[in-house]
Amino acid sequence: MADPIDQVARTFDDASDRFDSLTATVWGPAGQSLVFALGLHPGDTVLDVCCGAGASALPAAAAVGPTGRVHAVDVAADLLELGRLRAEERALQNIDFVCADATTWEPPSSVPEAGYDALAVSYGVFFLPHMDATFARLVGLVRHGGRVGVTVWRTGAMAEFTALVFDVAARYSPEVADRLSLRERTPLHRIDTPETLGAWLAGAGCHSVEVDILSNLLPATDELCWNLVVGSGLRGVLDGLDEPLVDAVRRDLLAAVTERGLHTIDATTLVGTATVRRPPATV
Ligand SMILES: C[S@@+](CC[C@H](N)C(=O)[O-])C[C@H]1O[C@@H](n2cnc3c(N)ncnc32)[C@H](O)[C@@H]1O
Repeated sequence: MADPIDQVARTFDDASDRFDSLTATVWGPAGQSLVFALGLHPGDTVLDVCCGAGASALPAAAAVGPTGRVHAVDVAADLLELGRLRAEERALQNIDFVCADATTWEPPSSVPEAGYDALAVSYGVFFLPHMDATFARLVGLVRHGGRVGVTVWRTGAMAEFTALVFDVAARYSPEVADRLSLRERTPLHRIDTPETLGAWLAGAGCHSVEVDILSNLLPATDELCWNLVVGSGLRGVLDGLDEPLVDAVRRDLLAAVTERGLHTIDATTLVGTATVRRPPATV
């Protein structure tokens, strides 16, 4: 079986040709909200893991300005390349897009010894193997009093649409019939309400926890529905299908969306932030 991190990298690299089509409606609003809620300051040093094409890392770079720095880390090389292009278009020179596994990330020596000022993880924390331990390790890279923040799908978000995608794709790909949804195959279900996300952040050694609900109800146009399949982690359902079969999935999916009367895609997102409490050093 493929290594899960290689698999996630392959899926998001495959999705990279359409990933940006969801920036304006999905990734961008969450990334901006996360950066706003983190309350970054000019000169801050920020770690953004699972950064994709920079939906939160790019606004973070703008927030910390030329005296600050953002380390944007992801395993999907093609998304990182997209992020570099976007940074160049905006003349942002204070952001490094690095291809690395967040679970083993070590800050370079340019990061102050006390740690990063902030950590951002937008729609990524539930992909990390051993989510609790990995997140605790990442929080450990942030200084006492620094800020951490994550975004996750709220319970029920994307659920009806994802179920339709799986149903339709399973007609053409027997492997999809055994596939579990994101909520079933990752620990997302443990942190997808304001209460559970808040408690989880508090349990990771943080205080002043706040969870905002970013309501995001998108008209289910054909274009959006198909972009959600080909430009996100759902892309994996098309693995191994040739072009005519992919066309058949598209046709059937759009018909199913109409038949079901699905007019809105619920992309509602939780934006959770907190402040890091580092226990006093023992002598
Ligand atoms: C849904 S995308 C979100 C990307 C970006 N934060 C955004 O909001 O647009 C999830 C990202 O997590 C990345 N990812 C998953 N596991 C990872 C790991 N172990 N290390 C680094 N990145 C990882 C994927 O490659 C993918 O780009």
